[in-house]
Amino acid sequence: MVSVMYRNRRGRITGLGSAVPEHIMTNHDLEKMVDTTDEWIQSRTGIKERRICEKYESMSDLAVAAGRRALEMAGLGPKDVDLLLLGTVTPDHRLPSTACIVQKKLGLVNAAALDIVAACAGFLHGLSIANSFIRIGQYKRVMVIGAEKLSSCTDFTDRNTCVLFGDGAGAAVVEASEGDRGILSTFLKSDGRLSELLWIPHGGSIAPPQSFHNGDGDFFITMSGSEVFRHAVRQMSDASLKALDMAGLKSEDVTVMVPHQANIRIMESAARRIGIPIERVFMNIDKYGNTSAASVPIALDEVVRSGRIKEGDILLMAAFGGGLTWASATVKW
Ligand code: UT7
Repeated sequence: MVSVMYRNRRGRITGLGSAVPEHIMTNHDLEKMVDTTDEWIQSRTGIKERRICEKYESMSDLAVAAGRRALEMAGLGPKDVDLLLLGTVTPDHRLPSTACIVQKKLGLVNAAALDIVAACAGFLHGLSIANSFIRIGQYKRVMVIGAEKLSSCTDFTDRNTCVLFGDGAGAAVVEASEGDRGILSTFLKSDGRLSELLWIPHGGSIAPPQSFHNGDGDFFITMSGSEVFRHAVRQMSDASLKALDMAGLKSEDVTVMVPHQANIRIMESAARRIGIPIERVFMNIDKYGNTSAASVPIALDEVVRSGRIKEGDILLMAAFGGGLTWASATVKW
C-alpha cells in the first residue's frame, strides 16, 4: 500500500539509450542458410534484417552501452543509481547475474542489481518493479535495462525461428517525481501452464549441458509459432486495455503505442483490437527483428529521440513472451 506521504510520487523516465551490434544479417543472408525467402520473411513478419553479435561481443557489452546513453540523457552519473534491473533470458553466465556484471562495468557502486527473467516482457516487468519501489520510497533512481544476445540460443538451421530473432539492448533511467508526469499504470501477468509453447528445453539444472553427449541436447529456442501468435495478439491487447483503464484513459488518448516487436501482423492485430490507428503504432521490427526484452526499450529510445513525443503525450507500451508472460504500461511524457 502506498503511504500518504508518497501519494503523488511516481517513476518518470528521464533517460533512454539503446545499442545494437554492428553486424547486420539480412534476409538474403538467411536465404543461403535455410530454405526461406526474403519475400516470405517480410510478408509474414515485417523483418528485413537483424543485428547479430560477433563471438567476442557479450550481452552485457550491449547493456552497458545502452545504460551509458540513458545516464547521459538523464544527466546523471553512475553513483546516482540506487537500483539496476536487467530483463534478459540470455545472461552472460548462469552465475553471477548479468545485472551484477553490468553494475561493475558501468560503475554503479551504490546500486542493488538483479536480473528479471520474463522474456520479451522483461523490460516492462522491470519498469513496473522500478515504479513500485519508487512509489514506496525505497529507491529514487532506478536503471531498467532490457538486453539480449538471442543469437546465442538460436538454431540457425531451423527456419521456423532463426529468421525472427536479433540481438540488442535498451535502457531507461527512472527517477522519483512528484506531479502527473511519469508512469501512470502498469499491468503484469503470466501463465506458466503454457510455458512449453516457447522455451529452451535443456541447459538448466534439470538437464545441464554436461549431462549430454554427442551434441544431442536441445539448447535452442523452440516455439509453437502460430499458437504463440494467437496468445500474443489477445494478451497484448487485453493488457493494453487494462493499463489504459487503470490510468483512466481511452485508446483515443494514446499519442504513440510502443509494442514489443515480434511480428508486424501481431502489432497490427493488437492495435486493431485496442482501437489505435496503425499510424500511431511505432515499429522498427524491419531493422532489428525480435530482440525479446530489448525490443520495447530500443523502440522507446528511437521514438523519443526522433522528436515525435512532446511533453504531456500519452505512451502505451505492451509486450508478450515466453513464460508465458505479458505486460503493459502507460506513461505521461
Ligand atoms: O516474442 C515472443 C513471442 N513470439 C512471437 O510472438 C512470434 C509469434 N509467431 C509468429 O510470429 C508466426 O507464427 C511465425 C512468423 C513464427 C510463423 O508465421 P505463420 O504465419 O504462423 O506461419 P506458420 O507457422 O503457420 O507456417 C506456415 C508455413 C509452414 O509451411 P507448411 O506447413 O504450410 O508447408 C511453415 O513450414 O510457412 C512455413 N515456414 C516458412 N517458410 C519459409 C515457416 N517458417 C518459414 C520460413 N520461410 N522462414
